[in-house]
Amino acid sequence: MNFDIPLFPESASSLASQVDNIYFFALGVSVVFSVLIAGTIFFFASRYKRRRVDEMGTPEQTNMMLELTWSVIPLLIMLFMFAWGTKVYLESYRVPRDADQYYVVGKRWMWKFQHPEGNREINTFHVPKGRPIELIITSEDVIHSLFIPAFRMKRDAVPGRYNTAWFEATKTGTYDIFCAEYCGTEHSLMVGKVIVMEPYEYDDWLQGNKPEQSLASSGAELFEAKACHTCHRLDSNARAPILANIAGKPRLLQNGKTVDATDTYLRESIMNPKAKIVAGYQPIMPTFQGQLTEEQLLELISYIKNLGADQAQTPADPAAEG
Ligand code: CUA
Repeated sequence: MNFDIPLFPESASSLASQVDNIYFFALGVSVVFSVLIAGTIFFFASRYKRRRVDEMGTPEQTNMMLELTWSVIPLLIMLFMFAWGTKVYLESYRVPRDADQYYVVGKRWMWKFQHPEGNREINTFHVPKGRPIELIITSEDVIHSLFIPAFRMKRDAVPGRYNTAWFEATKTGTYDIFCAEYCGTEHSLMVGKVIVMEPYEYDDWLQGNKPEQSLASSGAELFEAKACHTCHRLDSNARAPILANIAGKPRLLQNGKTVDATDTYLRESIMNPKAKIVAGYQPIMPTFQGQLTEEQLLELISYIKNLGADQAQTPADPAAEG
């Protein structure tokens, strides 16, 4: 009989072996000290047990060197683990600059993935090997958590905000995706597969499943359909801020504060425009709460971010002008 119980997930990302090394080091330290302490307890219990009913113990002198040794050595080990863990933790949160941006939306009970080229997938996620991939993760209902054990990557999907995570797959293959936050009846069925392909295979796959348009050009259409372009025009008399080149940059607000135009900021400015008013403008924009799906929001945000990329003073879709 062949019981295939996966005790340990595969290592398939650049971070996986680093996380494993910390894990096994911590496990090793725990085992050594557990054996040492438990062994000492049993040894002393048998060696120094009372042998006669009237036997009295003699008080021991404190041994300063001994006390210091068993305090300082564990302290040094702990500090070493803290520094090591912090280094890897920071690395897992610092997204490489050249990473491609993919969007993930959690929904009861499925995972939706959007490729920058516009491809959409549900519960299956094709990615190229050897390229850093940034995930911008949100939820359209409750809190979920995207967990890919083979990449040692887990990040919450929280409604109303974008969390980022990244990975670089190092091995082709198919790996599990789980939801790691209890989200209702079918939480345990909220699973999927990430399929790591060689870059040329991935490019073939993209071509073979070519969507009608990219995420940003869907956003450009939506920008026009929702009449955003009537106020967010590109001339200086526009009633609303020019959106080209703002993504990721600091914005000066009416109240004198400065915020960075992150994805979460852009989302808030669409759903709750009065929350942060840009200096020099009136709070005249209506809310789009309830009028846009999470996917449409991602399209708009992708469009706004791409307005900076081409440096153009014209909308990405020339037909939108008029
Ligand atoms: Cu989604 Cu648990």
